[in-house]
Amino acid sequence: MGSARWKRLCLLFLIGITFSVIFYGHYYTTTDSSRLLQQETLGPAQAEIPQDVRNHSLPRESMTKRGNPTKNSSERGILNHPKEKDLLTPSLSQSDLCPHSLKSKVKVDPTMRKQFDFGIPVLMEKQHFTPETWEKLKEHKVPYGWRGLSYSAIASTVQLLNDSASGRLFSKTGLPDGCSRCAVVGNGGILNGSRQGKEIDAHDFVFRLNGAVIKGFEEDVGTKISFYGFTVNTMKNSLIAYAEYGFTQIPQGKDIRYIFIPSDLRDYIMLRSAILGTPVPDGYDKGDEPQQYFGSEASAGKFKLLHPEFVHYLTERFLRSEIINSQYGHLYMPSTGALMLLTALHTCDQVSAYGFITDNYRAFSDHYFEQEKKPLVFYANHDMLLEAELWKSLHRTGIMKLYQR
Ligand SMILES: *[C@@H]1O[C@H](CO)[C@@H](O)[C@H](O)[C@H]1NC(C)=O
Ligand SMILES: *[C@@H]1O[C@H](CO)[C@@H](O)[C@H](O)[C@H]1NC(C)=O
Ligand SMILES: *[C@@H]1O[C@H](CO)[C@@H](O)[C@H](O)[C@H]1NC(C)=O
Ligand SMILES: *[C@@H]1O[C@H](CO)[C@@H](O)[C@H](O)[C@H]1NC(C)=O
Repeated sequence: MGSARWKRLCLLFLIGITFSVIFYGHYYTTTDSSRLLQQETLGPAQAEIPQDVRNHSLPRESMTKRGNPTKNSSERGILNHPKEKDLLTPSLSQSDLCPHSLKSKVKVDPTMRKQFDFGIPVLMEKQHFTPETWEKLKEHKVPYGWRGLSYSAIASTVQLLNDSASGRLFSKTGLPDGCSRCAVVGNGGILNGSRQGKEIDAHDFVFRLNGAVIKGFEEDVGTKISFYGFTVNTMKNSLIAYAEYGFTQIPQGKDIRYIFIPSDLRDYIMLRSAILGTPVPDGYDKGDEPQQYFGSEASAGKFKLLHPEFVHYLTERFLRSEIINSQYGHLYMPSTGALMLLTALHTCDQVSAYGFITDNYRAFSDHYFEQEKKPLVFYANHDMLLEAELWKSLHRTGIMKLYQR
C-alpha cells in the first residue's frame, strides 16, 4: 500500500516533468538557464532599514507603490533608505513601532542585510502592469516572468487585481502593539505528535500550503488558516495524493485568502476564473469550477498573486541552487513551503516556522499525517537541503523561529 502511493507520487511528478518538457519545448527552442541568474530585473542590495516604521497606520499598498519596480534604482535607493535618525525620532509613539521586528535583526546581521530587500513588492497588482513591466517580465520564464505567455492571458488576469487589498496580504490595524506575528505551517513529519496546535493558532496570521490536513491533527498543527499557498499543479496533486489522509477539500472560509504562485499559465487562468467566479474557459484545467476549490466567494481581495519578480529575487538571493546549472535547471524553483515562508518573512514582523525541514529530518516521516513512516521525497525541481540550510541560518540569527525537536 505504501509503495503503491510512492509509485503514484513518482508518476505524478513524471507527468509534471513531461508536461513541463512539452511546454518548454513548445514555447522555447532553447532553455538558457543562465537567464535565471540575470540580475537586471532586481535592484541592488538595499533596504537595510524597514521602510514602514515611520507610520504604521500607512496602508500596505502605499508601501508597495514606493517599492514600484518600474522606478529606477537610484529612486528606489532614496525611497528605501530612511535615515537612521528617523528610526529614533521621539515623536513616534510606541505603538508605531514593533520593537522586536525581524527587520531589526536583519539590519544588524552583515550577511542577511545584503540578502533582504524589504522594498520589493511581494504581490502583483494591477498598477504594476505597465508596458515596462510587460517588456521586462516577458524576458523571463515562469515563475520569474511571462516568457512565451500570451499578453491577453496575463493582462486579463493581472488587471483584475485592482482591489485595495490586492497589493497587501493583511492590514495591521487591530494588532495591539503594531506587531504582526505569523506562523507558517509546512507539512513535515516533525509535526506528528508535536502538540504545537495551540501555539500555532495563537499567531495573528497562519500560513498553510498544499496538503494541509487538519482534521485529526488539530493538537499538532492547529486549525487557524489565514493564507493558503499553492500552485494549481500542487493544489490539484495534493487533492489526489492526500485524499486517503482526508485532504479532500482545499481549505475554505470567509477569512481565508489564497496565494497563487505564478508557476505556469495555468495559475493565471485559474486565478482569473476564481476572481470572476466562472468556469476555467481553456487550457489544462478547462471546465474546472473555481468554487469547488475556493468556495463561493469570488472577489479580487480574496486572491493574491506572488509577483514574478519577487519569486526571482527570492531564488537569486536566498535559494540559488546548484540544480539551476544541471539538466533540471529549467524545472527548478523554490518549494511551495519555501515561497510561503519567505513571503511571511517579507511581510510579517515576527515569523515562526513549523513543519519545515530540519537537520534531523530522517527521524521523521515525509508528512505529519502519514500513518507509517515514509522517507522525505527529494524531487529534482526543489533543493530541500539548501532550504534546510537557509531555515537553520535564519533561526540561528534570530530572524525567525524554526520549530525543531
Ligand atoms: C500616520 O498616517 C495616518 C493616516 O495616513 C495619519 O492620519 C497620521 O497623522 C500619520 N501619523 C504620523 C505620525 O505621521
Ligand atoms: C533615476 O532617478 C533619479 C532621481 O529621480 C534621476 O536623477 C536619474 O536621472 C534617473 N536615472 C535614470 C537612469 O533614469
Ligand atoms: C476592478 O476591475 C473590475 C473589472 O474591470 C471592475 O468591475 C471593478 O469595479 C474594479 N474594482 C475597483 C475597486 O476598481
Ligand atoms: C505519528 O505519531 C503516532 C503517535 O505518536 C505514531 O503512532 C505514528 O507512528 C506516527 N506516524 C509516523 C508516520 O511516524
